[in-house]
Amino acid sequence: MFDDKKMFEPVEIGKGVFWTGFYDKAADLHCNPYLIVEGDEAVLIDGGSRPDFPGVMMKIMKTGIIPENIKALIYQHYDPDLCGSLPHLESIIDSPGLRILTNTENIRFIRHYGGSTPVQSLDTIGYKFSFKSGRTLEFFNTPYAHTQGSFITFDHDTGILFTSDLFGSYSNNWQLFLKLEEKCLDCSLEGKCPSGLSICPVKSVCQFHKGLMTSERALKYAMEVISSIPFEKIAPQHGSILEDLETIVCIVKHLKNLKDVGVDAYLKGLSYDKIGNINPLLKRLELKGRHIG
Ligand SMILES: [Fe+2]
Ligand SMILES: [Fe+2]
Repeated sequence: MFDDKKMFEPVEIGKGVFWTGFYDKAADLHCNPYLIVEGDEAVLIDGGSRPDFPGVMMKIMKTGIIPENIKALIYQHYDPDLCGSLPHLESIIDSPGLRILTNTENIRFIRHYGGSTPVQSLDTIGYKFSFKSGRTLEFFNTPYAHTQGSFITFDHDTGILFTSDLFGSYSNNWQLFLKLEEKCLDCSLEGKCPSGLSICPVKSVCQFHKGLMTSERALKYAMEVISSIPFEKIAPQHGSILEDLETIVCIVKHLKNLKDVGVDAYLKGLSYDKIGNINPLLKRLELKGRHIG
């Protein structure tokens, strides 16, 4: 379990990379914003929701960074659990140099949070952001995992891959880092946990993806994208950070082959040609004495 003393502290998970999340024991899902500090500059990844803002901001301040030195807010998609605090962040950072970095597809949704910060789309900056020191973040698209414009961010310096909702899980029995027991590495997800855990962490990750990802194909493709990146750690926006390679491989294998994901679960058992009966609608048109096609 998470050490309660750390509850109010930022946790450095790699050189200059701070977990600034808020663990709510009463909730079954919590968020993990991350701050990357490089010299006198910083960027915030998936900054968090409106209710989480005070806790996240307190942790950002505890890293020692001056808010106006935050140069960019990276939003890896447009959901409220990561973008909800945008207006609050803007007013505290209060800097004309602040930028939002995100994919074009996210911009039209992010503007509804009421922010006024200029947005740079990733395609206009070559899918890269560099600090003054040369430290570089690289962005990779993971479309429909789980939104059209979803992407992930790789910090070349630390090898940390920030994956937003990918590799997320529910917060039951949460810990900041997850390392699977040896016996769990070939977990079949069936029957009792071989390590005797009451909540299977692998099952929790799989359940999260079944519910949140759009389809088997989108998730499988995302695993292909991730596998091509030379990362050392995976830092998701929900759930636990993964740094043990065997744990990562185990989870990647499960997610690559996961069935009943998103719409595939909802329409389970129906083949493509069995979906899409619009005859009732056509019938109504016919009853009005009209006909199309
Ligand atoms: Fe999301
Ligand atoms: Fe999320």
